[in-house]
Amino acid sequence: MSIKTAADIVRMREACAIAATVLAKLKEHVAPGITTYDLDQIAKTLIAGYGARSADYGYQIGSRRFPAYICVSVNDEIVHGIGTLKRILHDGDIVSLDVTVEYNGCIGDNALTMPVGRIAPALQQLLQVTERALQLGIAQAKVDNRIGDVSAAIQEYVESHGFSVVRDLVGHGVGFSMHEPPEIPNFGRKGAGPRIKAGMTLAIEPMVNLGGYRTKTLADGWTVVTADGSASAHFEHTVLTTDRGPEILTIPRSA
Ligand code: MF3
Ligand code: CO
Ligand code: CO
Repeated sequence: MSIKTAADIVRMREACAIAATVLAKLKEHVAPGITTYDLDQIAKTLIAGYGARSADYGYQIGSRRFPAYICVSVNDEIVHGIGTLKRILHDGDIVSLDVTVEYNGCIGDNALTMPVGRIAPALQQLLQVTERALQLGIAQAKVDNRIGDVSAAIQEYVESHGFSVVRDLVGHGVGFSMHEPPEIPNFGRKGAGPRIKAGMTLAIEPMVNLGGYRTKTLADGWTVVTADGSASAHFEHTVLTTDRGPEILTIPRSA
């Protein structure tokens, strides 16, 4: 588990600020009628405008390479959705945007789920609970805590609201590559797992389903959906651990 140096952290701040600014600008384009392909292309342009590179594009698992610039996942899609002209966003949908960029050799990773137009109260609650679960998880990313403290805080809060946490996908360390140790599950036990030290950069990312936690992957080989067809939400930040407590790095740059 790598501990970032002061110089590494300077670069991580840059990459994370770009990832967050791209995400903030992309959000403004979400409305009924836009396609998920449009969102992908807007993100591609924004990323290039900051002199950064999509860490998703060409990302390889086995023999497959991810063919898009961000992940756009609608309704029952949990993560890794691929933008397509065939997918038009409609009033009442929820859409997850996950932006991961590389800048100067460092990676920033962040995501959120947002309403398209007006959404049902149950979906509003799903979004609120998932975002709050992320905040509670981040609050546990304290020096001398363990990764299980982050996991347990997320799981307990989500399950107390009757939702479920996805088990097949986890948060992760992030830095010089998109996925570094440690794994950060959204379920687990307090006091378990690796100890948190100062200078870790962690992508904490609860994925929360309205129904059951089981998943399946679509025939495109990437899009992960809920097995029961229920809606799913995802919020993610890249966080730096410090002796003064966790610091969220994926904060948009003003102006
Ligand atoms: N951004 C994702 C994460 O949070 C990973 C993207 S996978 C890719 O870990 F296939 F889209 F690249
Ligand atoms: Co991500
Ligand atoms: Co991530």
